Amino acid sequence: MLRSALLAAARSARCRTVVEHTPVMRPIVDRFIAGTTVDDAIRTAHLIAADRLVSLDHLGEEDTTDPDRAARNVEAYRIALRRLGDEGLATKVEVSVKLSALGMAVPADGDKIALENTREICVAAAAAGTIVTVDMEDHTMTDTTLSIVRELRADFPSTGVVLQAYLRRTEADCADLAYQGSRIRLCKGAYKEPASVAYQSKSEVDTSYVRCLRILMEGRGYPMVASHDSRMIRIAEELATRTNRSAEDFEFQMLYGVRPRTQREIAARGFRLRSYVPFGTEWYPYFMRRLAERPANLTFFLNSLVHQ
Ligand code: FDA
Repeated sequence: MLRSALLAAARSARCRTVVEHTPVMRPIVDRFIAGTTVDDAIRTAHLIAADRLVSLDHLGEEDTTDPDRAARNVEAYRIALRRLGDEGLATKVEVSVKLSALGMAVPADGDKIALENTREICVAAAAAGTIVTVDMEDHTMTDTTLSIVRELRADFPSTGVVLQAYLRRTEADCADLAYQGSRIRLCKGAYKEPASVAYQSKSEVDTSYVRCLRILMEGRGYPMVASHDSRMIRIAEELATRTNRSAEDFEFQMLYGVRPRTQREIAARGFRLRSYVPFGTEWYPYFMRRLAERPANLTFFLNSLVHQ
Protein backbone atom coordinates (compact mmCIF):
# COMPACT_ATOMS: atom_id res chain seq x y z
CA MET A 1 0.00 0.00 0.00
CA LEU A 2 2.82 2.35 0.91
CA ARG A 3 4.45 1.63 -2.44
CA SER A 4 1.24 2.55 -4.28
CA ALA A 5 0.87 5.74 -2.24
CA LEU A 6 4.44 6.80 -2.96
CA LEU A 7 4.05 6.07 -6.68
CA ALA A 8 0.81 8.11 -6.71
CA ALA A 9 2.65 10.93 -4.89
CA ALA A 10 5.30 10.85 -7.64
CA ARG A 11 2.64 12.40 -9.90
CA SER A 12 1.25 14.90 -7.36
CA ALA A 13 2.22 18.59 -7.67
CA ARG A 14 1.23 19.21 -4.03
CA CYS A 15 3.50 16.43 -2.68
CA ARG A 16 6.25 17.70 -4.91
CA THR A 17 6.07 21.19 -3.32
CA VAL A 18 6.19 19.65 0.17
CA VAL A 19 9.19 17.43 -0.61
CA GLU A 20 11.07 20.22 -2.40
CA HIS A 21 10.59 22.65 0.49
CA THR A 22 11.35 20.32 3.38
CA PRO A 23 15.02 20.85 4.31
CA VAL A 24 15.43 17.47 6.04
CA MET A 25 14.70 15.76 2.70
CA ARG A 26 17.90 17.22 1.23
CA PRO A 27 20.36 14.55 2.45
CA ILE A 28 18.06 11.76 1.20
CA VAL A 29 17.64 13.46 -2.16
CA ASP A 30 21.42 13.95 -2.39
CA ARG A 31 21.94 10.26 -1.78
CA PHE A 32 20.09 9.36 -5.01
CA ILE A 33 20.64 12.45 -7.23
CA ALA A 34 24.11 13.60 -8.27
CA GLY A 35 23.07 17.28 -8.39
CA THR A 36 21.20 19.65 -10.65
CA THR A 37 23.92 20.76 -13.11
CA VAL A 38 26.15 19.22 -15.77
CA ASP A 39 29.15 20.17 -13.57
CA ASP A 40 27.68 18.10 -10.73
CA ALA A 41 27.16 15.13 -13.07
CA ILE A 42 30.65 15.31 -14.55
CA ARG A 43 32.27 15.60 -11.11
CA THR A 44 30.37 12.50 -9.94
CA ALA A 45 31.18 10.62 -13.16
CA HIS A 46 34.92 11.29 -12.65
CA LEU A 47 34.73 9.91 -9.08
CA ILE A 48 32.81 6.76 -10.01
CA ALA A 49 34.76 6.09 -13.23
CA ALA A 50 37.86 5.44 -11.13
CA ASP A 51 36.61 1.88 -10.51
CA ARG A 52 33.25 1.52 -12.32
CA LEU A 53 31.32 2.42 -15.46
CA VAL A 54 28.60 5.08 -15.48
CA SER A 55 25.32 5.88 -17.24
CA LEU A 56 24.31 9.55 -16.91
CA ASP A 57 20.59 10.34 -16.91
CA HIS A 58 19.52 13.96 -17.32
CA LEU A 59 16.26 14.35 -15.40
CA GLY A 60 14.10 16.49 -17.70
CA GLU A 61 10.36 16.94 -17.19
CA GLU A 62 8.68 13.53 -17.63
CA ASP A 63 5.53 13.41 -19.77
CA THR A 64 6.21 16.86 -21.19
CA THR A 65 3.70 18.00 -23.80
CA ASP A 66 5.84 21.01 -24.72
CA PRO A 67 8.23 20.52 -27.68
CA ASP A 68 10.45 23.39 -26.41
CA ARG A 69 11.00 21.64 -23.09
CA ALA A 70 11.86 18.44 -24.92
CA ALA A 71 14.34 20.41 -27.05
CA ARG A 72 15.92 21.89 -23.90
CA ASN A 73 16.41 18.36 -22.62
CA VAL A 74 18.20 17.42 -25.85
CA GLU A 75 20.43 20.47 -25.40
CA ALA A 76 21.29 19.40 -21.83
CA TYR A 77 22.41 16.00 -23.18
CA ARG A 78 24.47 17.68 -25.94
CA ILE A 79 26.32 19.78 -23.36
CA ALA A 80 26.92 16.77 -21.09
CA LEU A 81 28.12 14.62 -24.01
CA ARG A 82 30.54 17.29 -25.20
CA ARG A 83 32.01 17.40 -21.68
CA LEU A 84 32.29 13.60 -21.58
CA GLY A 85 34.27 13.69 -24.85
CA ASP A 86 36.46 16.65 -23.82
CA GLU A 87 37.27 15.15 -20.41
CA GLY A 88 38.19 11.66 -21.64
CA LEU A 89 35.23 9.98 -19.97
CA ALA A 90 33.44 8.65 -23.06
CA THR A 91 34.85 5.11 -22.89
CA LYS A 92 33.48 4.68 -19.38
CA VAL A 93 30.31 6.78 -19.41
CA GLU A 94 27.21 6.32 -21.59
CA VAL A 95 23.90 8.21 -21.28
CA SER A 96 20.36 7.03 -20.53
CA VAL A 97 17.28 8.84 -21.87
CA LYS A 98 13.53 8.82 -21.15
CA LEU A 99 11.33 9.24 -24.22
CA SER A 100 8.60 11.03 -22.24
CA ALA A 101 11.12 13.77 -21.47
CA LEU A 102 12.06 13.95 -25.16
CA GLY A 103 8.59 14.72 -26.50
CA MET A 104 6.73 11.41 -26.69
CA ALA A 105 3.70 12.94 -24.91
CA VAL A 106 3.45 15.90 -27.30
CA PRO A 107 -0.02 15.68 -28.90
CA ALA A 108 -0.21 14.38 -32.48
CA ASP A 109 3.48 14.14 -33.41
CA GLY A 110 4.92 12.89 -30.10
CA ASP A 111 6.43 9.64 -31.38
CA LYS A 112 8.12 11.39 -34.28
CA ILE A 113 9.46 14.18 -32.05
CA ALA A 114 10.81 11.66 -29.51
CA LEU A 115 12.48 9.65 -32.29
CA GLU A 116 14.15 12.72 -33.81
CA ASN A 117 15.24 14.08 -30.42
CA THR A 118 16.72 10.73 -29.41
CA ARG A 119 18.44 10.48 -32.77
CA GLU A 120 20.09 13.88 -32.11
CA ILE A 121 21.34 12.59 -28.77
CA CYS A 122 22.69 9.45 -30.49
CA VAL A 123 24.55 11.67 -33.00
CA ALA A 124 26.06 13.73 -30.17
CA ALA A 125 26.97 10.55 -28.27
CA ALA A 126 28.68 9.06 -31.33
CA ALA A 127 30.64 12.30 -31.83
CA ALA A 128 31.78 12.11 -28.20
CA GLY A 129 32.67 8.41 -28.54
CA THR A 130 29.90 6.89 -26.47
CA ILE A 131 26.41 5.38 -26.72
CA VAL A 132 22.81 5.74 -25.53
CA THR A 133 20.39 3.47 -23.64
CA VAL A 134 16.64 4.14 -23.72
CA ASP A 135 14.84 3.75 -20.39
CA MET A 136 11.44 2.06 -20.24
CA GLU A 137 8.50 3.90 -18.66
CA ASP A 138 4.94 2.66 -18.06
CA HIS A 139 3.44 -0.16 -20.12
CA THR A 140 1.48 2.19 -22.41
CA MET A 141 4.84 3.23 -23.87
CA THR A 142 6.46 -0.18 -24.33
CA ASP A 143 5.53 -0.82 -27.97
CA THR A 144 6.41 2.70 -29.14
CA THR A 145 9.68 2.66 -27.20
CA LEU A 146 10.71 -0.66 -28.77
CA SER A 147 9.81 0.54 -32.25
CA ILE A 148 11.77 3.79 -31.76
CA VAL A 149 14.79 1.78 -30.57
CA ARG A 150 14.45 -0.50 -33.62
CA GLU A 151 14.64 2.57 -35.90
CA LEU A 152 17.58 4.05 -34.01
CA ARG A 153 19.51 0.79 -34.19
CA ALA A 154 19.51 0.98 -37.99
CA ASP A 155 22.02 3.85 -37.66
CA PHE A 156 23.26 3.34 -34.10
CA PRO A 157 23.33 -0.44 -33.51
CA SER A 158 24.72 -0.10 -29.98
CA THR A 159 21.64 1.75 -28.73
CA GLY A 160 20.46 -0.09 -25.63
CA VAL A 161 16.94 -0.52 -24.29
CA VAL A 162 15.43 -1.43 -20.93
CA LEU A 163 13.03 -4.35 -20.46
CA GLN A 164 10.97 -4.76 -17.26
CA ALA A 165 10.59 -8.27 -15.82
CA TYR A 166 7.30 -7.39 -14.08
CA LEU A 167 5.52 -7.17 -17.45
CA ARG A 168 3.97 -10.44 -18.61
CA ARG A 169 5.14 -9.75 -22.17
CA THR A 170 8.81 -9.38 -21.33
CA GLU A 171 9.95 -12.99 -21.77
CA ALA A 172 8.78 -12.77 -25.39
CA ASP A 173 10.49 -9.37 -25.81
CA CYS A 174 13.74 -10.83 -24.43
CA ALA A 175 13.56 -13.67 -26.97
CA ASP A 176 12.95 -11.18 -29.83
CA LEU A 177 15.77 -8.92 -28.76
CA ALA A 178 18.51 -11.39 -27.77
CA TYR A 179 20.35 -11.05 -31.07
CA GLN A 180 24.01 -10.28 -31.78
CA GLY A 181 25.05 -6.84 -30.50
CA SER A 182 21.70 -6.09 -28.85
CA ARG A 183 22.23 -4.30 -25.53
CA ILE A 184 19.38 -5.10 -23.13
CA ARG A 185 19.14 -3.67 -19.62
CA LEU A 186 16.91 -5.99 -17.63
CA CYS A 187 15.27 -4.47 -14.54
CA LYS A 188 12.29 -5.53 -12.42
CA GLY A 189 10.17 -2.43 -13.19
CA ALA A 190 9.39 0.67 -11.14
CA TYR A 191 5.88 1.86 -12.14
CA LYS A 192 2.42 1.02 -10.80
CA GLU A 193 0.97 -1.37 -13.36
CA PRO A 194 -2.35 -3.27 -13.49
CA ALA A 195 -2.50 -7.05 -13.01
CA SER A 196 -3.71 -7.43 -16.60
CA VAL A 197 -0.21 -6.56 -17.85
CA ALA A 198 2.13 -7.04 -14.90
CA TYR A 199 2.94 -9.57 -12.20
CA GLN A 200 1.97 -8.11 -8.82
CA SER A 201 3.83 -10.16 -6.20
CA LYS A 202 7.56 -9.95 -5.52
CA SER A 203 8.00 -13.71 -5.98
CA GLU A 204 6.29 -13.65 -9.41
CA VAL A 205 8.42 -10.68 -10.50
CA ASP A 206 11.59 -12.37 -9.25
CA THR A 207 10.90 -15.65 -11.07
CA SER A 208 10.07 -13.70 -14.24
CA TYR A 209 13.38 -11.84 -13.84
CA VAL A 210 15.26 -15.15 -13.69
CA ARG A 211 13.44 -16.53 -16.76
CA CYS A 212 14.21 -13.35 -18.71
CA LEU A 213 17.82 -13.35 -17.56
CA ARG A 214 18.23 -16.94 -18.74
CA ILE A 215 16.92 -16.02 -22.21
CA LEU A 216 19.29 -13.04 -22.43
CA MET A 217 22.34 -14.96 -21.14
CA GLU A 218 21.67 -17.87 -23.51
CA GLY A 219 21.11 -15.43 -26.39
CA ARG A 220 23.66 -13.57 -28.48
CA GLY A 221 23.15 -10.02 -27.20
CA TYR A 222 24.79 -8.07 -24.38
CA PRO A 223 22.81 -8.47 -21.12
CA MET A 224 22.90 -5.63 -18.60
CA VAL A 225 21.77 -6.98 -15.25
CA ALA A 226 20.12 -3.99 -13.55
CA SER A 227 19.28 -5.11 -10.03
CA HIS A 228 20.42 -4.61 -6.44
CA ASP A 229 18.99 -7.98 -5.45
CA SER A 230 21.81 -10.27 -4.22
CA ARG A 231 19.90 -13.34 -5.44
CA MET A 232 19.57 -11.98 -8.97
CA ILE A 233 23.27 -11.07 -8.97
CA ARG A 234 24.29 -14.57 -7.87
CA ILE A 235 22.00 -16.19 -10.45
CA ALA A 236 23.38 -13.90 -13.18
CA GLU A 237 26.93 -14.98 -12.28
CA GLU A 238 25.92 -18.66 -12.41
CA LEU A 239 24.16 -18.24 -15.76
CA ALA A 240 27.16 -16.36 -17.19
CA THR A 241 29.45 -19.24 -16.17
CA ARG A 242 27.06 -21.82 -17.58
CA THR A 243 26.76 -19.97 -20.91
CA ASN A 244 30.54 -19.35 -21.17
CA ARG A 245 30.25 -15.59 -20.97
CA SER A 246 33.41 -13.80 -19.91
CA ALA A 247 33.32 -10.71 -17.68
CA GLU A 248 33.35 -8.58 -20.87
CA ASP A 249 30.22 -10.23 -22.29
CA PHE A 250 27.70 -8.75 -19.83
CA GLU A 251 27.54 -6.20 -17.05
CA PHE A 252 25.88 -5.47 -13.73
CA GLN A 253 24.14 -2.15 -13.18
CA MET A 254 22.92 -0.37 -10.05
CA LEU A 255 21.46 3.01 -9.21
CA TYR A 256 23.62 5.80 -7.77
CA GLY A 257 23.21 5.81 -3.99
CA VAL A 258 21.90 2.24 -3.73
CA ARG A 259 24.26 -0.38 -2.21
CA PRO A 260 27.43 1.62 -3.03
CA ARG A 261 29.69 -0.81 -1.15
CA THR A 262 28.30 -3.78 -3.06
CA GLN A 263 28.84 -1.84 -6.30
CA ARG A 264 32.53 -1.42 -5.49
CA GLU A 265 32.87 -5.07 -4.36
CA ILE A 266 31.40 -6.39 -7.63
CA ALA A 267 33.79 -4.17 -9.63
CA ALA A 268 36.73 -5.29 -7.46
CA ARG A 269 35.89 -8.93 -8.28
CA GLY A 270 36.60 -8.13 -11.94
CA PHE A 271 33.05 -7.67 -13.23
CA ARG A 272 31.77 -4.67 -15.12
CA LEU A 273 29.57 -2.61 -12.81
CA ARG A 274 27.79 0.44 -14.19
CA SER A 275 26.33 3.06 -11.85
CA TYR A 276 23.22 4.83 -13.15
CA VAL A 277 23.72 8.49 -12.19
CA PRO A 278 20.75 10.88 -12.45
CA PHE A 279 21.13 14.67 -12.39
CA GLY A 280 18.98 17.70 -13.19
CA THR A 281 16.36 19.95 -11.67
CA GLU A 282 13.41 17.62 -12.38
CA TRP A 283 14.48 14.99 -9.83
CA TYR A 284 11.17 14.64 -7.98
CA PRO A 285 9.41 11.72 -9.82
CA TYR A 286 12.66 9.72 -10.06
CA PHE A 287 13.29 10.29 -6.35
CA MET A 288 9.78 9.17 -5.37
CA ARG A 289 10.17 5.93 -7.35
CA ARG A 290 13.34 5.23 -5.33
CA LEU A 291 11.42 5.80 -2.07
CA ALA A 292 8.67 3.47 -3.29
CA GLU A 293 11.20 0.71 -3.95
CA ARG A 294 12.39 0.75 -0.39
CA PRO A 295 10.06 2.33 2.17
CA ALA A 296 12.92 2.04 4.71
CA ASN A 297 14.30 5.11 2.92
CA LEU A 298 11.14 6.90 4.01
CA THR A 299 11.54 5.73 7.63
CA PHE A 300 14.96 7.38 7.61
CA PHE A 301 13.26 10.61 6.47
CA LEU A 302 10.51 10.37 9.11
CA ASN A 303 13.08 9.73 11.87
CA SER A 304 14.98 12.83 10.85
CA LEU A 305 11.75 14.86 11.02
CA VAL A 306 11.13 13.66 14.59
CA HIS A 307 14.72 14.26 15.73
CA GLN A 308 15.47 17.53 13.96
P1 FDA B 1 14.32 -5.29 -5.22
O1 FDA B 1 13.36 -4.14 -5.35
O2 FDA B 1 13.76 -6.63 -4.92
O3 FDA B 1 15.42 -4.87 -4.18
C1 FDA B 1 16.44 -5.74 -3.75
C2 FDA B 1 17.24 -5.08 -2.67
O4 FDA B 1 17.95 -3.97 -3.22
C3 FDA B 1 16.40 -4.45 -1.54
O5 FDA B 1 16.08 -5.38 -0.55
C4 FDA B 1 17.31 -3.34 -1.06
O6 FDA B 1 18.29 -3.87 -0.20
C5 FDA B 1 17.97 -2.86 -2.33
N1 FDA B 1 17.24 -1.73 -2.93
C6 FDA B 1 16.46 -1.78 -4.05
N2 FDA B 1 16.00 -0.56 -4.35
C7 FDA B 1 16.47 0.28 -3.41
C8 FDA B 1 16.34 1.68 -3.17
N3 FDA B 1 15.63 2.47 -3.99
N4 FDA B 1 16.98 2.21 -2.10
C9 FDA B 1 17.72 1.44 -1.28
N5 FDA B 1 17.89 0.10 -1.47
C10 FDA B 1 17.26 -0.46 -2.49
N6 FDA B 1 12.79 0.72 -13.80
C11 FDA B 1 11.94 0.98 -14.83
O7 FDA B 1 10.72 0.74 -14.70
N7 FDA B 1 12.42 1.50 -15.99
C12 FDA B 1 13.75 1.75 -16.20
O8 FDA B 1 14.14 2.21 -17.27
C13 FDA B 1 14.64 1.46 -15.13
N8 FDA B 1 16.00 1.66 -15.25
C14 FDA B 1 16.84 1.18 -14.30
C15 FDA B 1 18.23 1.23 -14.50
C16 FDA B 1 19.08 0.67 -13.57
C17 FDA B 1 20.56 0.71 -13.83
C18 FDA B 1 18.56 0.06 -12.40
C19 FDA B 1 19.46 -0.57 -11.39
C20 FDA B 1 17.20 0.05 -12.17
C21 FDA B 1 16.34 0.62 -13.09
N9 FDA B 1 14.95 0.63 -12.87
C22 FDA B 1 14.12 0.95 -13.92
C23 FDA B 1 14.40 0.36 -11.51
C24 FDA B 1 14.04 -1.11 -11.34
O9 FDA B 1 12.94 -1.43 -12.14
C25 FDA B 1 13.68 -1.43 -9.88
O10 FDA B 1 12.58 -0.68 -9.49
C26 FDA B 1 14.81 -1.22 -8.89
O11 FDA B 1 16.05 -1.55 -9.44
C27 FDA B 1 14.60 -2.09 -7.64
O12 FDA B 1 14.60 -3.46 -8.00
P2 FDA B 1 15.78 -4.49 -7.61
O13 FDA B 1 16.03 -5.33 -8.80
O14 FDA B 1 16.95 -3.77 -7.10
O15 FDA B 1 15.15 -5.48 -6.56
